[in-house]
Amino acid sequence: MKYLSTFFLLAMGSVLMVWGCKSAARQDELQLSAAFIDEQLDEAIAQMAVLADGVPAERMPRTFQGDTSVTSDTKWWTSGFYPGSLLYLYEHSGDERLLLLAKDKLRILEKEKYNKGTHDLGFMLYCSFGNALRLTRDTAAYNEVLLTGAKSLISRYNPTVKAIRSWEGWTYPVIIDNMMNLELLTQASELSGDRQYRDIAITHANTTMKNHYRPDYSSYHVIDYNPKDGSIVGKKTAQGAYDESAWARGQAWGLYGYTMMYRETGEPTYLDFANNIAAFILDHPNMPEDLIPYWDFNAPDLPDDSPYASRYKTNRDASTASILASALLELHTYTQGEISARYLDAAEKMLKSLSAAPYKAEQGTNGGFILKHSVGSIPHDSEIDVPLTYADYYYIEALIRYKRLLEGKPLFD
Ligand code: GLY
Repeated sequence: MKYLSTFFLLAMGSVLMVWGCKSAARQDELQLSAAFIDEQLDEAIAQMAVLADGVPAERMPRTFQGDTSVTSDTKWWTSGFYPGSLLYLYEHSGDERLLLLAKDKLRILEKEKYNKGTHDLGFMLYCSFGNALRLTRDTAAYNEVLLTGAKSLISRYNPTVKAIRSWEGWTYPVIIDNMMNLELLTQASELSGDRQYRDIAITHANTTMKNHYRPDYSSYHVIDYNPKDGSIVGKKTAQGAYDESAWARGQAWGLYGYTMMYRETGEPTYLDFANNIAAFILDHPNMPEDLIPYWDFNAPDLPDDSPYASRYKTNRDASTASILASALLELHTYTQGEISARYLDAAEKMLKSLSAAPYKAEQGTNGGFILKHSVGSIPHDSEIDVPLTYADYYYIEALIRYKRLLEGKPLFD
């Protein structure tokens, strides 16, 4: 028994060493310089100052349309991205004013921990309070918020469907975006020692893997279930061009979500799945040269009778590129050889494209948002070709991740 446990410890030691190597930076492969990354982050801080001026104390920035700042209340799904962006920029600069500004927004956001009417609590609370906890280690201030939020999120879980409900209406809709809310749950188990959050996250991810994906590893946007027996009522889209199309941001949420679930669980099935999603995205014949995807991968091929064919065949979505860049940087650290180099190369190209015209705004313009040319929802005629707070958040996150790679640090402490 004693020998067995010594063997076990040695084996675990080598697994951890391999893990350490996998997630450590391979700096000689990095093509973007520290000066380039620092310049983008410093300019992001300058833009944030312009943005901050236009946001009332009790509101969150959302977009900038027709020369007007559009803000939201804290119930809106994007409310965590602004404090999250401020916190990443505090991490970059050490400037305490950014931390104070973020804390002001956390104060108005905290009440959403009781909100059981949305599945978006991971976006809202983990991008914000999760980063605050990571950077300040103030467990007394932030643990309870994350745990109460996680409890609210799992109130939307149905064990027959084996998934968390996304929206009201429909029958029991689950959208691919919901993969992004699972990190709040895996982390709630870390914080509390209570496995139920993590178990629900894993079950939800497995159900999504089974039902949301087509054989080519593209994802439907919405799977509508019958909550009585878990059967599928419909495979639909809400924000894509048509039910069978590949809505671009949905593909990015899936890639990020399964990469994150591999990090959180070490389950190789999620890594394989993320690799397959990445292949769908990067090999897609409609992926443009600059790697900033169309709002829907099928948009350029829309038939003439599509309601979007006359106006929306060519819109790009910078938010998709930001999410993809961040996810691909992480996936690069879990893979080796050519495939890993491909992910790094693609993320670098995306960051370079986003950091220049026409995507990056001139300083002082764009209402203080960093990026232009994102798409909220074309079918809803909402937020088309505008800046979006989440495009900026994931762009900043990707830059911070790249900076960590340059410094030889693992992406996650
Ligand atoms: N979660 C909503 C969206 O991606 O637009």
